[in-house]
Amino acid sequence: MSAKRPVRELMPALAGKTYFNYGGQGPLPSPSLEAMVACWRTIQELGPFTTAVWPFIEAQTVAVRQALATLCGVGPHRLALTENVTSGCVLPLWGLPWQRGDELLLGDCEHPGVVAACQELARRKALRVSVLPVLELCCSNTQEALEALVLEQLERALTPNTRLVVLSHLLWNTGSIMPIAAVAQRLQQHSNQPWLLVDAAQSMGSIPVDEAASVADIYAFTGHKWCCGPEGLGGVALSERLLEVAQPTLIGWRSLRHESTAASSFHHDARRFEVATSCVPLASGLTCSLDLLAAQGSPQQRHQRCRQLADRLWRGLQALPGARTLLNQPPPAGLVSFTLHDASGRQRDTAGTVDALGRAGIWIRRLDQPDCLRACVHVTTTEAEVDHLLQALTALQQRQA
Ligand SMILES: Cc1ncc(COP(=O)(O)O)c(C=O)c1O
Repeated sequence: MSAKRPVRELMPALAGKTYFNYGGQGPLPSPSLEAMVACWRTIQELGPFTTAVWPFIEAQTVAVRQALATLCGVGPHRLALTENVTSGCVLPLWGLPWQRGDELLLGDCEHPGVVAACQELARRKALRVSVLPVLELCCSNTQEALEALVLEQLERALTPNTRLVVLSHLLWNTGSIMPIAAVAQRLQQHSNQPWLLVDAAQSMGSIPVDEAASVADIYAFTGHKWCCGPEGLGGVALSERLLEVAQPTLIGWRSLRHESTAASSFHHDARRFEVATSCVPLASGLTCSLDLLAAQGSPQQRHQRCRQLADRLWRGLQALPGARTLLNQPPPAGLVSFTLHDASGRQRDTAGTVDALGRAGIWIRRLDQPDCLRACVHVTTTEAEVDHLLQALTALQQRQA
């Protein structure tokens, strides 16, 4: 069936434009949209609240939970379905047993939503927030050197009160990969054994995640970015030790083993962080997108392909007068961040560049910290698209010279 065709041909969003915003939202393949419509139809045909529909709904949920758990290298009991990355980070985080004076150590490239949630948690529970600086390390070192350097930085930042470390797996700004497994190992040796929360917004679907997801305490992701699923469904892989002590925060009937006995019967597994009614057809859509991506190659093969395309873009940018990449080495995955400068070295307005490219049907985005442009390449990207972006950037630079 359609899985035999290159998945890009199944994505209406890629027709008639040149798309590089996979880190913002991935395009939805038509078969995934059709799977959602079919699921909705079946629910209506069986009857939306009938004994007949429950096994069907259960089957959709079980299938997507199993698929996501397999990608994470964990059993399905460790996988909670959520709405997005942020709720996957925040729901278990707020359920942990905090004590006044505990320290939260946050990487300096974390997403504002997750940072805000940690800051508010700290304010309410009298915790301290400190920063693990990794941005500079990423910009001036090779990916290979990064592991040891991040671990050194971690060593300097840890204190006897550190209770949590927050670090993205694939940084959304520089596109660097953080050594999550090594960080987890180091934290195990700390007297507090701090929790490790990993924001997997950019890693899930773009690089292999099982090694990191299976050792983090909270590994939170969404289906709507690199997995090319619908918006509104994500997941979080939770560690066994977290499941033993974390209390559900946003509580509803899906957190419960038995609806009738309420709080005494929270699920022992990750479902204690699920809440209530949600949109079941999204599960069918995401399962379909994951199958379509799997048909393009293993996670390792797809990562390799993204890396090749990112390498082409990164090298093209080195040759482009006035372009500066954030990384001084080819990117380790599919995110390529850069700035454009005029002849006197002054940085060009990033919003203006995004708009100008958008008018030409080329879609990249800008970021605030640092102020830069970001283009993402996925398995659906072609070399011709990368070259088209490079040509458009060259033309912009020449026009503005
Ligand atoms: C690194 C990172 N974390 C979190 C988010 C927020 O994702 P969501 O809207 O799925 O919670 C994003 C979205 O761009 C992101 O890039």
